[in-house]
Amino acid sequence: MRRPVSIAPPKGKLGVLTPGMGAVSTTLMAGVELVRRGHSVPVGSLTQMGTIRLGKRTESRVPKIKDFIKLAELNDIVFGGWDPYPDNAYEAAVKAGVLEAKDLSNAEKVLKTIKPMKAAFDRSFVKNLDGTHVKKGKTKFDLAEQIRQDIRDFKKKNKLDRLVVVWCGSTEVFLKAESIHGDLASFEKAMKTNHPSIAPSMLYAYAALSEGVPFANGAPNLTVDIPAIVDLARMKNVPICGKDFKTGQTWMKTLLSPGLKARMLGLNGWFSTNILGNRDGEVLDDPGSFKTKEESKLGALEFILQPKVYPELYGKFTHKVRINYYPPRGDNKEGWDNIDIFGWLGYPMQIKVDFLCRDSILAAPIVLDLALFMDLAQRASMHGIQEWLSFYFKSPMCAPELYPEHDLFIQLMKLKNTLRWMMGEDLITHLGAEYYD
Ligand SMILES: NC(=O)c1ccc[n+]([C@@H]2O[C@H](COP(=O)([O-])OP(=O)(O)OC[C@H]3O[C@@H](n4cnc5c(N)ncnc54)[C@H](O)[C@@H]3O)[C@@H](O)[C@H]2O)c1
Repeated sequence: MRRPVSIAPPKGKLGVLTPGMGAVSTTLMAGVELVRRGHSVPVGSLTQMGTIRLGKRTESRVPKIKDFIKLAELNDIVFGGWDPYPDNAYEAAVKAGVLEAKDLSNAEKVLKTIKPMKAAFDRSFVKNLDGTHVKKGKTKFDLAEQIRQDIRDFKKKNKLDRLVVVWCGSTEVFLKAESIHGDLASFEKAMKTNHPSIAPSMLYAYAALSEGVPFANGAPNLTVDIPAIVDLARMKNVPICGKDFKTGQTWMKTLLSPGLKARMLGLNGWFSTNILGNRDGEVLDDPGSFKTKEESKLGALEFILQPKVYPELYGKFTHKVRINYYPPRGDNKEGWDNIDIFGWLGYPMQIKVDFLCRDSILAAPIVLDLALFMDLAQRASMHGIQEWLSFYFKSPMCAPELYPEHDLFIQLMKLKNTLRWMMGEDLITHLGAEYYD
């Protein structure tokens, strides 16, 4: 990828469309409204609260990221979305039960105006849901065409300058890439013949990219991880990224495991289990959707700990992940990790983590950052896979010949260095030898 020659300014309005208007999406929409009205600060959002050091440590140049690189203003965002349930964003947020009534009432007026467009939905991909607010079409290709029309209509109606799409829909059943995903012509033919391995999420991705709109994948679905869609993104000069927002237990895993490795401490086993009771949990109760999530969650440790490079430390560890749908907890997940490690002379030790988290509270600022950074990438003509946004994902996309980078701290360094690189600033290597000349 070449350094951007110029970055178009973020003038005008930015549409943020989410396929899926459930807990994460409505928590984002409500939160942005509360921040706009001065009721809250955007905690958890790197684009809004983060800073970036420029030049030497002695220069004291540490602007906020959003002042260093021009990002769309929160006041210029217009939200929309699709969902197989017809609830507006207020009703959906009440059902999701993430935010308290007093917070929701402050955003109620705006949320009630955000009504979902009919979804391209197929129950065989999300077995535990049964929505009625769905598109009809003879073929999957027809459905994709309808989504394209939705995008055009939304842009026109809201007088938008630009758009981004972030998938906040349910986790679909596990799919493996096959020949019909291998190139654009086969993919389009498969849409027209209703091939069973074309998932609804792929139709949104295809539609967005065809309209020149960036697409970020927040679920562990295959969606944009196929050559046909990667090629389309390149052809249309549009950025894509994914997949599966890195919140909760996997975020914790990518904080702790680099620490173990940094100290060359060994690992015998890592057992993660959690209870959650939101709609996401209900969807993940289906073994097909759970398999998709499990694959996404298992990858991080292997890549960070590199068992092949450190066989004595990480060659034989057991890694188990369990998700349990437990309605009383709603969105307030509790995640337990039992980590069996060993140190000097092989002596065993244990670490126990009990994270009482709130899934959508952790995910909402990630969606905001992704929307703003994907818009930035588009304005800078950075097309195809945006590996610098790995920071936000459990299963980061990368070029086929690379392995994904999972270590949160390397991911953050990569993200900030990408911003410096885009703006022609020196990259920061943390060498610091010049201070001692
Ligand atoms: N909350 C987190 O911390 C987190 C972390 C990583 C990934 N995710 C993923 O983000 C997604 C959203 O999570 P959530 O908690 O908001 O779930 P949710 O169940 O509350 O919302 C998902 C919404 O998507 C809708 N949907 C399903 N299929 C659709 C389709 N084909 N088109 C349009 N809408 C569709 C559902 O009706 C539902 O309203 C899930 O896939 C989840 O696995 C969430």
